Amino acid sequence: MKIGIGNDHTAVEYKQEIAKHIRETYGYEVVNFGTDQSESYDYPLAGEAVANAVASGQVDLGIAICGTGIGISLAANKVRGIRCAVCSEPYSAKLSRMHNNSNVLAFGARVVGIEMAKMIVDAWLTASFEGGRHQRRVDMIMAIEAKSCGAAE
Ligand code: RB5
Repeated sequence: MKIGIGNDHTAVEYKQEIAKHIRETYGYEVVNFGTDQSESYDYPLAGEAVANAVASGQVDLGIAICGTGIGISLAANKVRGIRCAVCSEPYSAKLSRMHNNSNVLAFGARVVGIEMAKMIVDAWLTASFEGGRHQRRVDMIMAIEAKSCGAAE
């Protein structure tokens, strides 16, 4: 399993700690995106990079972190095929996998403490999509994308 992780300047050390947690807890490969510098960095770049990595199959799932998680999730959700969920607690993270089949998780380094963030990541990585009636609803979401943005090439 490969996890892409990307961030802006608000989450440099925070991202490194989350990446370490994923490697040590699950043995997954973590692919680094975004910035490793403290200088201001535009979050849409990191959101797009993580989302593209997921959409292309370079990684299986993505994690996107900015100050609030909002800007980077908005950017990620503009990439075709991406369902990015911003979560500030584990229950929503788990349900975003089980019901919404989220493929990118976002949270805010200025909002969510690092230990809570690890719990959110754990809830998300250990849950799986339930399919069934949820598949129909996810298909409806993807149909909105297809109608609004045109059919996939
Ligand atoms: C950066 O100051 C901040 O705007 C960004 O990290 C994020 O919170 C945007 O949604």
